[in-house]
Amino acid sequence: MGMNEPFDALQRRVYLDNAATSWPKSSAAIEAAQKFIHECGATSGRGAYRSAMLADRWLADARHHLAQLLNAPDAQSIALCSSGTHALNAALWGLLRPGDHVITSAAEHNSLLRPLKQLETHHAVRLSIVPCDADGFSDPRAADELVCDDTRWIAIGHASNVTGRVQALDGWRDLALRASSKLLVDASQTLGYIPIDVQTSGIDVLAAAGHKGLRGLAGTGLLMVARELQSQLRPLMFGGTGLASEQLQTGQSWPQSVEVGNLNLPGVVSLAVAAAECYRSQHTTVLNAAGVAQPSWRAPLQQLVAGLKQFPEIRMIGWEALSGDDDLERAGRIPVVSLQVAGWDVHDLASVLDSSFGIEVRAGWHCAALVHDALGTADSGGTLRLSPSASTTSGDIDWTLAAFREILA
Ligand SMILES: Cc1ncc(COP(=O)(O)O)c(C=O)c1O
Repeated sequence: MGMNEPFDALQRRVYLDNAATSWPKSSAAIEAAQKFIHECGATSGRGAYRSAMLADRWLADARHHLAQLLNAPDAQSIALCSSGTHALNAALWGLLRPGDHVITSAAEHNSLLRPLKQLETHHAVRLSIVPCDADGFSDPRAADELVCDDTRWIAIGHASNVTGRVQALDGWRDLALRASSKLLVDASQTLGYIPIDVQTSGIDVLAAAGHKGLRGLAGTGLLMVARELQSQLRPLMFGGTGLASEQLQTGQSWPQSVEVGNLNLPGVVSLAVAAAECYRSQHTTVLNAAGVAQPSWRAPLQQLVAGLKQFPEIRMIGWEALSGDDDLERAGRIPVVSLQVAGWDVHDLASVLDSSFGIEVRAGWHCAALVHDALGTADSGGTLRLSPSASTTSGDIDWTLAAFREILA
């Protein structure tokens, strides 16, 4: 069977799993990465020949554009990673110390919760987990009573990857200030969808995937660490950095403490371009060649929510209080919708949507071990998650709603 067969065979493909990884990617990012592979292909931080220096420039460009997008103090506060999981692990293992008390929430992804649990189990870090409500929202005020003298970190996701609910970063920042602790934010689900300003949000450490809302290639992520913490970060891995090669024992300094080994340069190139593109779209009205504003994720989300609300059999999880007419961004939502359908197992439903309608969605727990108790979905196999993007067309949403109509008829 040829690699292309499954896709060629599909009459229609509606990709609604952008919360896992976005598709399609930014065309400009793909083109730049392809050009880099075809015409350069060198690695960064190693050689002094021309193409190696071009690779160095791309890496510097990626740091610059990511720092600009996040309003980070400078480009050197950015390290390039291979995923959101890599960025979170580099930060948590690198910065937490035995005896530290960390506050996190039940709404988090396992890429934040599992390293924290490991650190608690094996390295004497103390963990407090704030519950979340049936929207996947964790109230920072509920964490006030957990603060103690040893509280060093507030580690929070910017939005739930199950319900799409955006968290109150201001409240978490205020809590971190009151607790004299550092604020670590997992922005894997929000970067590219909603503007993030690490300085005004008081974020000391930000970890994110580069391949979701930002639309960089798979195998990309980033870590922003505030200047005063960079020298405290202990490396997760040791090896070649291109620096001090004659020394066997060397403290790898930031950002090589995270970027050890050869980097995924095509991915780095894609991030440089995708971050520049995202910054432009967040700060200007970008018009396409026909003079029309570029599509955003808001219209397909609004259409999807309004349409799904029409089905009495569908329970939209964490969206009960909203109507299709609400301004979903103001209501603190990103394009992630979870649901259950009366009489249907979520995995069976995902399978029928795929096989009969070419609609690609994800069913299950979505790598979030704790949130389902609050959502009431723990005993029923989790949720069916639909995550559109700016590339989702109105026709794609019509098709999806028609598929539900037919399945439920
Ligand atoms: C909230 C959140 N954090 C972290 C991750 C991990 O990102 P990656 O898949 O790039 O490792 C994900 C991925 O689904 C996520 O949704």
